[in-house]
Amino acid sequence: MQNIDLKQYIRGIPDFPKPGILFYDISTLLRNADAWQLATARMAHAIAPWQPDQLAAIESRGFLTAAPLSTRLGCGLIMLRKPGKLPGETISLTYDLEYGSDSLHIQADAIHSGQRIVVTDDLLATGGTLAASVALLRKAGANVVGASVLVELTSLGGRDKLDVPVHSLLSYDE
Ligand code: PRP
Ligand code: MG
Repeated sequence: MQNIDLKQYIRGIPDFPKPGILFYDISTLLRNADAWQLATARMAHAIAPWQPDQLAAIESRGFLTAAPLSTRLGCGLIMLRKPGKLPGETISLTYDLEYGSDSLHIQADAIHSGQRIVVTDDLLATGGTLAASVALLRKAGANVVGASVLVELTSLGGRDKLDVPVHSLLSYDE
């Protein structure tokens, strides 16, 4: 299992969620126990040198990567959530999507001064979501030391929107 190419567990689904989009479906990786274990082990290995105190998890599919990574790395987990989900005082950031806008929230007391934060998500596509997450974390006082994703669609250039080191486990150029 150690030398396995994890791409064989991810399927490309044409024209989803709309015509012309090739959707990389990670469901088939998640449901294979050995492949998922290996994927999270490899991601944790890449993140470990950044020595995070906390992982920041982007709702919703970012929760999938963040939970196993935080237990593997022995660090905490901070949720970046969609509106109306977090109790108490929150800090928010609204960002543009291809059509319309979206916003993410973080609890105002989530970040402690000096902590090293790595943000994680399942996918880096245009980079809008990760860039907004980094900006929100900084607004809340975080020292963001890296970003980690399971899949990167390199042809969309999302990485160029980020000014932190980015690790992607699997990259696709089309
Ligand atoms: C998807 C994916 C990433 C984001 C990547 O989330 O999980 O978070 O898009 O795209 P970007 O790099 O172009 O911003 P989505 O908003 O579809 O929602 P979900 O995670 O709740 O499924
Ligand atoms: Mg998402």
